[in-house]
Amino acid sequence: MTRRIGTALRVGMGALAALTWAAAAQAAPAAATAAPTPPMGWNSWNHFAGKIDDATVRAQADAMVASGLARAGYRYINIDDTWEGERDAQGVIHANSKFPDMKALADYVHSKGLKLGIYSSPGAKTCAGYAGSLGHEAQDARTYAEWGIDYLKYDLCSLTPSVEKAATLEQGQAIEAAAYEKMRNAIKATGRPMVYSLCQYGINQTWRWGASVGGDLWRTTGDISDRFSRMIQIGLSQAGLAKFQKPGHWNDPDMLEVGNGGMNATEYRTHMSLWAILAAPLLAGNDLTKMSPETLAILGDKGVIAIDQDPMGRQGDRLHAEGPLETWTRPLAGGAKAVGLFNLADRPAYMQVTTAELGLKGPAALHDVWADKDLGKQTTYRAIVPAHGVILLRVAAKPAA
Ligand code: GAL
Repeated sequence: MTRRIGTALRVGMGALAALTWAAAAQAAPAAATAAPTPPMGWNSWNHFAGKIDDATVRAQADAMVASGLARAGYRYINIDDTWEGERDAQGVIHANSKFPDMKALADYVHSKGLKLGIYSSPGAKTCAGYAGSLGHEAQDARTYAEWGIDYLKYDLCSLTPSVEKAATLEQGQAIEAAAYEKMRNAIKATGRPMVYSLCQYGINQTWRWGASVGGDLWRTTGDISDRFSRMIQIGLSQAGLAKFQKPGHWNDPDMLEVGNGGMNATEYRTHMSLWAILAAPLLAGNDLTKMSPETLAILGDKGVIAIDQDPMGRQGDRLHAEGPLETWTRPLAGGAKAVGLFNLADRPAYMQVTTAELGLKGPAALHDVWADKDLGKQTTYRAIVPAHGVILLRVAAKPAA
C-alpha cells in the first residue's frame, strides 16, 4: 500500500475541536524517550520489501559495522513487513520460515553493537497481508521483548479504512490513539525499552497527538519512493510541522532512498540535507552490502549527520521560497544555524542568503557542509546551486556583543 486517500479531507474537518484535543495532548507530560535524537539505522522495506530474510539482515548488520556507518551513528537494524508467520494454539506469534530463530538473530545483531527492530500493525493484517497484532498486543509485545527487540514500527494498515470512515476528525483520531496507546502500554508492561514508531501516514494530523500516545516518532506522510519528485514533495510538505515536534518525539517523513538508484548523487545529497534540516530519522533504505563509495559518503557525511543529530533537537522549517528556489533553516545548539539552499529547478541557479534574513547582525562565519570548507565571514552568501541540488551551510553562532 503506498497511497492513502481521505487524509486531506479529514484534516479539514472539525479543525477547531481537533485543536482543543491536540492542545490537551501536547500538555500531557512527556514520557521518557528511547530516542533522544532522531533514530538512525537501516530498514529493510525500501530496497528488499518482501525479499527479506535472516541471512540478509545479518549481512546488513555486518555491512553497517564494516562500512563505518555504525561508527557514524547508525545503530538500528529494522526488519519491516513480511517476517510474520502463524500464531500457535496459545496465540503466540512465530516468525515465518525466512526467520528461523528471531532470538538468535537479535543476539547476533546485538553482538555487533547494534539494535534490532521489528514491524507489526494494530490491525488484523499488516500492509503486506501478514498477521497483525489486533487482539494480541500484550502477547506480541512480550514475544518481542523475549526475542530482544529494541524498536517497533507499528503500521496502521488494515485499520486504515475504519479510521477513514470515521464521521469526524475526533472519532478518527480516537480510533488511532486507542490502538497506538494499547501497544504503547503493552510495550511498557514488558519492561524492555523499545523505540516506538507510529506509521499511519499522517492521517488525522498525527503530529498533534503522536507524542501523547507514546510515539517516539510518527510518520507524517504517505510512502516515499526512489524518485526526486516524490522525495521532494514529501520533504517540502513538512513546512509548518516543526512546532509539533519536541526532543525525543520526532516527525518522520519516511525512510531514506539514498543509494537505491532512482536519483543521482546530487539529488541524494538534497534528500539527506533536507532530512537533516527536518531532524528526521535517518533510516537507510538501501543494500548496505553493495554501496558505492559515493553512497557511503552521502550516508556517512559527518557534518550532515551532526546537523540531523544536533543536541538541541529542534526541527527546521522553510525560511522562504522563490518559485523552485527553497531556503530552509534549522536552529542548532549554541545559537548556530543550518541553512539549506535548495534548487529544485532543472537547471543551475544563483541563490543567496543574508545574515539579516537569518536574524543575525553583520557578517557570520559560514561553513559549506558537503564540501567541508570554511567560507569565512560573510553578510551575503551567493552561489550557483546545481539543478536539483543543495548548498548546505552551517552558520556559526555569533559571539555575544
Ligand atoms: C506501508 C508503510 C511502509 C512499509 C509497508 C510494508 O504502509 O508505510 O513503510 O512498512 O507498509 O507493508
